Amino acid sequence: MTLPNIEDVYADNNDTMLASGDSTRAVHAGTRRRKAFNSLTTPVIQSATYTFVNTAELIAFMDSKTWGNGSDREEYGRYGNPTVAAVEKKLAALEGGDDALIYASGMSAVTSLLLSILPTGAHVVMTDDCYRRTRQFSLTFLKRLGIESTIVPMGDYDALEAAIIRKKTRFIISESPTNPYLRVADLERLVDIAKRNRVRTLIDSTFATPINQRPLEWGIDFVIHSATKYLSGHNDLLAGVVIGRGDRIQALRQARGVLGGIADPQNAFLLERGIKTLGIRVAQQNQSALAIAQYLETHPKIERVWYPGLESHPDHNVAIEQMSGFGGVVSFEVRGSLERTSQFIDALRIPYIAPSLGGVESLIEQPALMSFYEKTPEERLELGIKDNLVRFAIGIEDTDDLIADIAQALEQI
Ligand SMILES: Cc1ncc(COP(=O)(O)O)c(C=O)c1O
Repeated sequence: MTLPNIEDVYADNNDTMLASGDSTRAVHAGTRRRKAFNSLTTPVIQSATYTFVNTAELIAFMDSKTWGNGSDREEYGRYGNPTVAAVEKKLAALEGGDDALIYASGMSAVTSLLLSILPTGAHVVMTDDCYRRTRQFSLTFLKRLGIESTIVPMGDYDALEAAIIRKKTRFIISESPTNPYLRVADLERLVDIAKRNRVRTLIDSTFATPINQRPLEWGIDFVIHSATKYLSGHNDLLAGVVIGRGDRIQALRQARGVLGGIADPQNAFLLERGIKTLGIRVAQQNQSALAIAQYLETHPKIERVWYPGLESHPDHNVAIEQMSGFGGVVSFEVRGSLERTSQFIDALRIPYIAPSLGGVESLIEQPALMSFYEKTPEERLELGIKDNLVRFAIGIEDTDDLIADIAQALEQI
């Protein structure tokens, strides 16, 4: 048997797919038509290192890496992997970026990006109501390195601009939509403020997915996802991704080789498989979430619903203008105490009680008893986390079944 040339296996770029719709891109973009051993799917290259046939080949590789335009082949597993590279190409195509880098988890993507880019003495502005570990990383680890963070209320663009310190602030960091209140950043305003103040922008777009919004197209510099969520979509792996301009991602690639947070090939394979159904999954989740939000809003046992697809949401207008779908998470407050809210959750039959979101199985949680359990009720309230708040991450089950389940659970309290 003749082994294929590595150049043949990874050479055709499939650029024609870039002009296609979301699902065509999700299935085909970044994937070579012709793969090793005529496999239809991307092979899992489960190798920690890569070999050279002789010293001449090694020297040619080193020369091309050092003096030339780089090389397609890999040298060592921490610097790159062909299965990982395939999913990176697909994600870059889906977000409309030049290049992408995948990491072992969403937090690895966040921490590696910030550690790689921010110098000592820098300052970042972050919006509140964002993933608590990102906040924690900035307020503890970055602080130890002499990097200060200012947290401003989501949606207060005057406060955001006022927090920028000339020649010191490097980044504006926001999620959109946020967790758990699904606040939507006005990307146009964010980019305008950033450009006028010469600051870079980073959006954690985990909740949006490239199906509902592509922040790079609005002028955002970096997009991050916890690929653990919608991108992989099956609650079966952890991964993260950063997408952006080619030269910037290349610099991060070098840094990833040092920091070491690369995703492993098995997870990259599963992630690529998951992404292929992203379009249809997210469409179903958008549709169910909107129907559930509308149902809950009219229910007498529900005090308040947070969903950007509802007119009652503070960012509804921005969401209508800047997003093509409102996402698969609905947060709401049950009329009553922490205990009554737990009774409702316990009476549900379809969703699992678990943190996370974006997979095919619906997951539900009471943030006061999950992510914020160690806080006192007063501290939770200060963070805006009410005892009766529920976060429902909708899966791909049938909408009618989910609504019937909610109805019977509410009936029981
Ligand atoms: C919005 C958001 N960003 C980042 C993360 C971190 O991702 P991971 O759990 O993959 O490390 C999460 C995890 O819940 C998240 O919800």
